[in-house]
Amino acid sequence: MCGIVGYVGKRQAAPILLQGLHRLEYRGYDSAGIAVGSKGKLRIAKRKGRVRELDALQPQKFKGTFGIAHTRWASHGEPSDRNAHPHCDATGRYAVVHNGIVENAAALRAQLTERGCIFASDTDSEVFAHLIAFADDGSPLESVVASALRRIVGAYGIAVIDAQRPDTLVVARNGSPLVLGIGDGEMFFASDPAALVRHTTSVLHLDDGEIASVHADGYETRTLDGAATNKPASTLPWKDEAFDKGAFAHYMRKEIAEQPEAVRRALSGRLDRRFGTTHLGGIQLAARDLLDVRRVKILGCGAAYLAGAIGAHLIETLARLPADAEPASEFRYRNAVIERDTLYIAVSQSGETFDTLAAVQEIKRKGGRVLGVVNVVGSTIARECGQGIYLHAGPEVSVVSTKTFTCSAVALALLAIHLGRLRDLSVARGARLIEALQALPEHIAAILDREPEIARLAEYMMDAEHAFYVGRGAGYAVAMEGALKLKEVSYLHAEAYPASELKHGPLALISPQTPTVVVLPRDDLFAKNISTVEEVKARGGPVIAITHPGEASTAFDRSFEIPALEPELDPLLLNIPLQLLAYHVALQRGTNIDQPRNLAKALTVE
Ligand code: G6P
Repeated sequence: MCGIVGYVGKRQAAPILLQGLHRLEYRGYDSAGIAVGSKGKLRIAKRKGRVRELDALQPQKFKGTFGIAHTRWASHGEPSDRNAHPHCDATGRYAVVHNGIVENAAALRAQLTERGCIFASDTDSEVFAHLIAFADDGSPLESVVASALRRIVGAYGIAVIDAQRPDTLVVARNGSPLVLGIGDGEMFFASDPAALVRHTTSVLHLDDGEIASVHADGYETRTLDGAATNKPASTLPWKDEAFDKGAFAHYMRKEIAEQPEAVRRALSGRLDRRFGTTHLGGIQLAARDLLDVRRVKILGCGAAYLAGAIGAHLIETLARLPADAEPASEFRYRNAVIERDTLYIAVSQSGETFDTLAAVQEIKRKGGRVLGVVNVVGSTIARECGQGIYLHAGPEVSVVSTKTFTCSAVALALLAIHLGRLRDLSVARGARLIEALQALPEHIAAILDREPEIARLAEYMMDAEHAFYVGRGAGYAVAMEGALKLKEVSYLHAEAYPASELKHGPLALISPQTPTVVVLPRDDLFAKNISTVEEVKARGGPVIAITHPGEASTAFDRSFEIPALEPELDPLLLNIPLQLLAYHVALQRGTNIDQPRNLAKALTVE
């Protein structure tokens, strides 16, 4: 969602803050702003639009060694100059940036208006600045902010500066991530470690209910009630170079290309060919505990949920355990029955998605066991789960997930083999699956080398207004992810259907202008899938098949063949051409690929 960045030290703050904003822009990009303090005054610039539009106001020239900045993804109040953060009190002495949603904003605005406040924006966030101004009784800024925060109902990650207290910045967290970056005689903070790695890898993640005083030579963290929470710093595993786009035109394309290496890292040290099994050091459940598992439930949002759908299929097939995936946003609100012998799994690239986190907390509240399948080390979901599988996919910047989708599905395949080998999966079968996983990076690389073929498929689709994606079993999950990718980046309306359901309604929409992408592995259901293809052809619908080598069906108007793996692992490869297809349709339609309209990389609010 929105991004926060802050600095205090000896250097000029503005260039550091602006650099941080550019790095965070993938989290939200409808407006941006900055506040820098010097000589008892704050200088503020904010503007609707991208960070480069803020640059035009020349905030880089603001002098001062402490400040805060924000890039926004609108929730309360339309994107506009006045709604951009930072927000100030009436005197302009305090500036606040906020991520999250203040649920009692309307009541607080009414009370503050009664006390004479004039609001300068339509945002919920502005209430923080006025509350802080009223609460200031000369105590340290941290106590002033803490007392203002006691009046807030809702989620926040906030950062506050006061022109008259130049040495101290205050940050606080309740439901929206904040990370401190520890430098040498300087301190940084951000809502996402991506903005910190350029300066330091020594970080401290705030927990909900924590507030920190940050100054050039250190920080103190406390609860809102003032009790010290002495926590050790940790080290970020990422390097700054990992965030460079390099020679690629888009992060999405770069991250698609990084998949062979990302998958290699996700597999590294985890495969045991000899015993046909996997080692997952982050799971602290003994074989005996895992044997007691009777059911698996996988939760996530967006692409993470769909990777979970592939994982559920793998677990059911390889471990013969009932398994299913559900959007975390649905699960958390339906008063789900939590079972003692169910293993719950939360999948999340960022480890910060609010709905997924809320689902994890609900499971834990009811005594359930939950593992995280997470990319960002030390993120909130990873910490909340306490155990799980890290993807090691490296940072993903493009709003649409590609390499982390693949790595999440790979991580779940590792778990499926592990659970399977505790049950009926034989050593020999396990070993064949391990070999297939070892070969996965090369197969992905070989598909990526054939990109021009996929660009030609994209030409065939780019003028359509609607498309169907169909498949069966795990192929249906692949179809759902393919359709999601296409919608997100190209704005072409795509709908995924289980292949057999097409005839129960959607067939009415098939026409020569509506292409159908069929996920068509040569498995037991191949012949049945061909029947679906024939139904589409009979209504004049163009068919694009992602399939395995074999006799080409005359029913396909276009096809792309991928090598066959062990059948259960086929979905991991079938998805790769669909990523490139979405990318090339978007490229040909000229959309903003890395930052599609209305979307944000991590949704840290409801
Ligand atoms: C947002 C993003 C999606 C992502 C989903 C889950 O909706 O736009 O690309 O799949 O969040 O994110 P997570 O970080 O939990 O995997």
